[in-house]
Amino acid sequence: MLPTYATVNLAALAHNLSRIKRYLSPGCEIMAVVKANAYGHGAVETAQALAQQGIGRFAVASLDEGIALRQAGLSASIVVLGALFEEQVFDLVAHQLTPVVSDGRILPTLAKAARSHPAPYPIHLKVETGMGRLGFSPEELLSLLDNPILRSPLQVEGMMTHLADADGADSGFTERQLGAFRTMLEQIRQCGLTLPLIHTANSAAIVRFPESHFSLVRPGIMLYGYHTFPATIPAPDLKPVLSLQTRIVHLRTIPRGGTVSYNGTFVATRPTRIAVLPIGYADGYSRRLSYRGSVLIQGRRAPIIGLVCMDMIMVDVTDLASVQVGEIVTLIGHQGQESIWADEVADWIGTIPYEVLCGIGSRVPRLYESA
Ligand SMILES: Cc1ncc(COP(=O)(O)O)c(C=O)c1O
Repeated sequence: MLPTYATVNLAALAHNLSRIKRYLSPGCEIMAVVKANAYGHGAVETAQALAQQGIGRFAVASLDEGIALRQAGLSASIVVLGALFEEQVFDLVAHQLTPVVSDGRILPTLAKAARSHPAPYPIHLKVETGMGRLGFSPEELLSLLDNPILRSPLQVEGMMTHLADADGADSGFTERQLGAFRTMLEQIRQCGLTLPLIHTANSAAIVRFPESHFSLVRPGIMLYGYHTFPATIPAPDLKPVLSLQTRIVHLRTIPRGGTVSYNGTFVATRPTRIAVLPIGYADGYSRRLSYRGSVLIQGRRAPIIGLVCMDMIMVDVTDLASVQVGEIVTLIGHQGQESIWADEVADWIGTIPYEVLCGIGSRVPRLYESA
């Protein structure tokens, strides 16, 4: 019996993929973003399930994430979105991972590593249009384009930028970013480089900015069943993929005046029945959920009392009838008519569902169900 586990519903993943496709024109490809352990869902299993649904391109953040997918047998294209150190380049090429280049200083090392590779080695160039993070400025791009190694042994397979405000209330910032991107795209084309893959759109842009789709889109959060649009945008029909469950490991009743958890911050104002649950901040159940969060037991909400511990939380079950040790508790998911999804948990602690999902710790086993 697993005390604490996450269930990943692959049918919901397939559903979300099919909804994303509805926004795309024929010929526009999808690069599934499976970084951060597929937002906590398990990168290998998620990528394999998406590959079975016909997805042939994946994106990760780091070299190690890419290598892990290769070692699991994924033969599809894998783009490493994050910046790389020169020392990482030979490993990158050895595993046939596609780098996103946003600093020209890495190109000679890439070219050297690529010479041991039979065909021109694909790279993507990232341009900066407003994220203020990684990417070539227009001047840097211009000075780069004459470099012959971009034609051999490297091949510029793609050009991208990162939209900073696609889920913001105002579309102006994104429109300006897309305008700047189109200008730089034109510069590249005038230099005679043909670019098979042009990509800018994350989940929010897929829905809100059709002009951002170009030839490839990069959905992450929508695959996993969430979005962060303002309420004015019609919500896409998505299904959350991950549920998080635990079981009651211990029950006790404390008298009026009794305290719970570190620093005794919870003081019972009545005889209180407490359920102890074997999940804590080391599993990604944030300490900020102390006093803010609730869980589902018997289809009803039970509030967290006392501070969230590293490995345990305590909830007040005084008002629930006949709760048993071993009973299933839902922290994310639904029980009966009630549900608590990752976006509600995020709201409780002033964050976004991304952080709640990515934070689910490595010691929480992931179980996969296909229906
Ligand atoms: C470069 C890049 N593209 C796409 C995504 C996917 O974004 P989202 O999860 O909002 O769809 C991310 C995620 O942060 C990213 O870093």
